[in-house]
Amino acid sequence: MTQVFDVERVLAELTLEEKASLTSGSDFWHTQPVERAGVPAIMVTDGPHGLRKQAHNPDHLGIGISVPATCFPTAAALGSSWDVDLVRRVGEALGRETRANDVTVLLGPGVNIKRTPLCGRNFEYVSEDPVVAGELGAAIVRGIQSQGVGTALKHFAANNQETDRMRVSADVDERTLREIYLPAFERVVTTAQPWTVMCAYNKVNGTYASEHRWLLTDVLRDEWAFEGLVMSDWGAVHDRVPALAAGLDLQMPASTAGSDEAVVAAVRDGSLDEAVLDVAVRRVLALIARSAQQSRTDLAGAVTFDVDDHHLLAREAAGDGSVLLKNDPVDGTPLLPLTGSFAVIGEFARTPRYQGAGSSQVNPTRLDDALTALGGDVPFAPGFTIAGGPSGDDDALRAQAVEVARSAETVVAFLGLPGPDESEGYDRPRLGLPDNQVATLRAVAEVTPRVVVVLANGSAVAVSEWQHLAPAILETWLGGQAGGSAVADLLTGARNPSGKLTETIPHRLEDTPAFGSFPGELGHVRYGEGVLVGYRWYDTRAFDVAFPFGHGLSYTTFSYSDVAATETSATVTVTNTGSSAGAEVVQVYVRDPEASVLRPTRELKAFGKVSLAPGESRILTFELTRRDLSYWHCGLHRWVVEGGEFVIEVGASSRDIRGSVSIQVAGDPLWGELTAMSTIAEWLEHPVGGPLMQSALTVPADIPPMSEADQAMLAQMPAKVLVTFGMSSFTLADLDDLVAKVAAG
Ligand code: BGC
Repeated sequence: MTQVFDVERVLAELTLEEKASLTSGSDFWHTQPVERAGVPAIMVTDGPHGLRKQAHNPDHLGIGISVPATCFPTAAALGSSWDVDLVRRVGEALGRETRANDVTVLLGPGVNIKRTPLCGRNFEYVSEDPVVAGELGAAIVRGIQSQGVGTALKHFAANNQETDRMRVSADVDERTLREIYLPAFERVVTTAQPWTVMCAYNKVNGTYASEHRWLLTDVLRDEWAFEGLVMSDWGAVHDRVPALAAGLDLQMPASTAGSDEAVVAAVRDGSLDEAVLDVAVRRVLALIARSAQQSRTDLAGAVTFDVDDHHLLAREAAGDGSVLLKNDPVDGTPLLPLTGSFAVIGEFARTPRYQGAGSSQVNPTRLDDALTALGGDVPFAPGFTIAGGPSGDDDALRAQAVEVARSAETVVAFLGLPGPDESEGYDRPRLGLPDNQVATLRAVAEVTPRVVVVLANGSAVAVSEWQHLAPAILETWLGGQAGGSAVADLLTGARNPSGKLTETIPHRLEDTPAFGSFPGELGHVRYGEGVLVGYRWYDTRAFDVAFPFGHGLSYTTFSYSDVAATETSATVTVTNTGSSAGAEVVQVYVRDPEASVLRPTRELKAFGKVSLAPGESRILTFELTRRDLSYWHCGLHRWVVEGGEFVIEVGASSRDIRGSVSIQVAGDPLWGELTAMSTIAEWLEHPVGGPLMQSALTVPADIPPMSEADQAMLAQMPAKVLVTFGMSSFTLADLDDLVAKVAAG
């Protein structure tokens, strides 16, 4: 049995060289052992939707084979369930497999925001919205860590593209970082305390994340009270000494020649305080001790996992993470669930796309395909080659598909993105499906109006060119090893769809928020759209979209009534008004109709999923906080609520608001420090400075009253400039006096 050691005792015993060595890996997946001091090595490995424990030939690109493990749905699919309890249960299963394989930390979850649908790694991320990403990220962390193993919350921060990911500087303004790119990390850290956080490869505003003191120490530790260890992404450290000083504890994987020595030399020549190194070593030792400690708890012993049970859980999760985008009636009846005979078209029905490429690639314990799950004797035609072979091949396959479609009552077409379209390490080449697939869909739709499209892709694909040809569309994302049987469950009605979109499906690439400033140029990507990311962009700009954020249908229907809200809560009654049991994802948005800064038209602040029998009603209550009403004030460097009207909206999607309540909220003080360069408006708003300025601004009786335009111009003018222009009734000395009086309170 692993012995637990005393961190402080060991730390006191270590040589400087040993300390330096502990702050980098010993190989691709292990930390350094110090046998003399009884410190074992621990193993960490990917992540996020299954265990990728490589026995031989380690690499971080998913090339070398790993031990069999359950390939759960990717974050894109799991997230679309919006189901905190389900996600926690998947986390528990992941934790159990991690534990059973003697691994200490599973490298996930990824909670980076989907800034553009083209990010090659979106399948590993949850949402375009930080509340969804944060809540579900926290749920999976809780689940995994309940099994006595750790997580690595990644990639901190602003890693929203793969192009040039190891060098690019994400240039993001402070408010956008605080409101969009940091809160998912913040929520997971403050509510679930992951054992570790993994820093990103990229730079943030010019500084590598691995050397970013503000991110790794000021925000993560001082503000969010993170207690665990910060490790680097694989190869993200370029200079150990500044990285340690910034708050990076563990470089992964093993350090390059000379890098431990550089740390030792820096301590010896005084450029790195040994106390700083000790802090990092203490955290590495604490992680190793924690892992040893956990193996002595109730969970000790030979942990095993039930492959069948986990496969069933993966099937449930893939089903609940699929989104029924549309289900229009044909001859008065929706096409789904399927009734009568049907044929299957599309290579993806027998060759499933179920995960993305790169470091997250799992070697599944088994693999279901939809064709088999739907009953092996269903008429089938592949319809296209996934790789888009020579056009002759595709023409023949298409002709065959049309023949199969002609004699079927309904056609289910399995379309999706080819594997190489979505990978870690580079971004997607296109928003749409490959032309050969769309051509097959068009040909099939010419012979039957009864077409159901099942999509498999890791992030939004454009559907607007062809969606009129398919009365029903089911988006299954990359659903993991049981995705094939899960889709059969949904198509046949054995399971009722309940997933909703965690990302908007736009019409065109040109409509997307980052268009024009993605993937950047000359080493910089400027987040020019600011806080208008995802639906915040489409709703605020009033752009039409193919399917909005939060949208997803069911085979039953739900009504919303009795929406009520206060500053601290929102309630709604939801009723299942259809004839089958189902689950609804209810969303609470906040709007600030009048604000002195640009605020998105609506922002999600809470959500919940409720299962209801036909005719059943349930009252849902959501908690709201002051933070939910606030924005990040860049002048004051804090969250502020601007007083006045707020609208609390409850809806079934960001474009399907079912009820709203307007409330009046008292604001926070918005004034900052007053100086001679503060504007007249800033002076007048200030509780102390206001009355002082008011009496200083005496206007001689013979001057006519100012017009509205003049007053507006005056309000924007710094007090000092007013003096310089000779327009003030006070002198510079008077002004200095006022500043001093305000400072004195
Ligand atoms: C990825 C990480 C992953 C690591 C180890 C990196 O390239 O960005 O997400 O955990 O490799 O495989």
